[in-house]
Amino acid sequence: MTKGRNNKNKTHKIKTKKTKKKKTKKTKETKLKSNFFKNIRNNLKTSHISSGKAILDNKEDKYSINLIHKFGGGKSGDLVYLIEKDHKKYVLKVFKKKKESKNEITIHTKMNKLFENDIPLVPIIYSFGIIDTIPFINQKGKFNYMILEFIGGSYEISDYIRENCKTNHTNKINPYYLGLQLFYYLAKIGSNNLNHCDIHTKNIMVIKVKKTIELDFSNIDKSFQKKKVGKYQLKIIDFGLSTHNKSCPKNRRVIMPVLQDLYKCRLLGTRDINHISKEIRSIVSSKLNTKGSYTINEDLYIFIKILRLLCAIKHKGNRLTNQKIEIMRIAVKSYKFKEAIYEIYHTLM
Ligand SMILES: Nc1ncnc2c1ncn2[C@@H]1O[C@H](COP(=O)(O)OP(=O)(O)O)[C@@H](O)[C@H]1O
Ligand SMILES: [Mg+2]
Repeated sequence: MTKGRNNKNKTHKIKTKKTKKKKTKKTKETKLKSNFFKNIRNNLKTSHISSGKAILDNKEDKYSINLIHKFGGGKSGDLVYLIEKDHKKYVLKVFKKKKESKNEITIHTKMNKLFENDIPLVPIIYSFGIIDTIPFINQKGKFNYMILEFIGGSYEISDYIRENCKTNHTNKINPYYLGLQLFYYLAKIGSNNLNHCDIHTKNIMVIKVKKTIELDFSNIDKSFQKKKVGKYQLKIIDFGLSTHNKSCPKNRRVIMPVLQDLYKCRLLGTRDINHISKEIRSIVSSKLNTKGSYTINEDLYIFIKILRLLCAIKHKGNRLTNQKIEIMRIAVKSYKFKEAIYEIYHTLM
């Protein structure tokens, strides 16, 4: 928890200024530090950008955005930048050309409303479209991009878990509340026939907010209630693999960060090892069979692993126990989505 995202960004910003004058031979990395995107040509359709939220100007066929920072990013190869426009920060995510992105586009355009109104705690997607050339990468082709709300001052839940699973240094955060929030978001996403498909501990951010958060679980089921869940808010990011009315793509399921967290916290068990080998088999065989073969909801399945991690954090208000987690695990494995949600709710609350 020592390294807040903001600090990282500040450091980077300073570096960027210092290196500005030196125009040495540019590696990919130094190019990325350059202050402006230039000449992002053609068809950046502003109609894709919700009115009042457009951050890409097209003046004389040029787009300019302040490029502040490149996030490390994961294995996906997508490029994730922190950008600035009119003193506001956003995240620009550029998808690799070859990625099966058809689903993503459908979802992100259709689901704008969902993200903005029903799940205000998930980053708002401002736009989604196609750019033809990304000048700082010496490569041409069509790239899909998406612009997200920037969650400044947040950190990955993975950092929080790893730093606290053995000795709790962050007594302020009740891990149980984080579990409840994660359940709430996944249930909301799932009840709209969406699968996130990339839930893991580096795609969940934690941020401190001023007001105590109250979740209205009755939005999910009328018999459920409201619940206060503290001042540390979870935000799910990286909807790049999400699907609508469809199971998750089969070949992108290895949830390394969660497994690494489990390993770090000495919680990696036989089931996880089995999971890894199943995942790897699935990747190998995905060339032959591209149909999703999972019957359970993968997001909820990973959620159970994340609960196990949160359960390891000793905190007086932590109501997560191994026994409860086992009940929820069985529910996720054996029941249909709605039934599993019901069971999880009653076990968690
Ligand atoms: N909206 C955002 N606000 C703050 N940080 C973000 C945001 N989106 C991404 N990040 C940071 O960048 C990292 C990589 O972004 P992500 O969209 O998950 O790409 P990848 O496909 O590489 O996993 C995240 O793990 C997170 O630390
Ligand atoms: Mg990610």
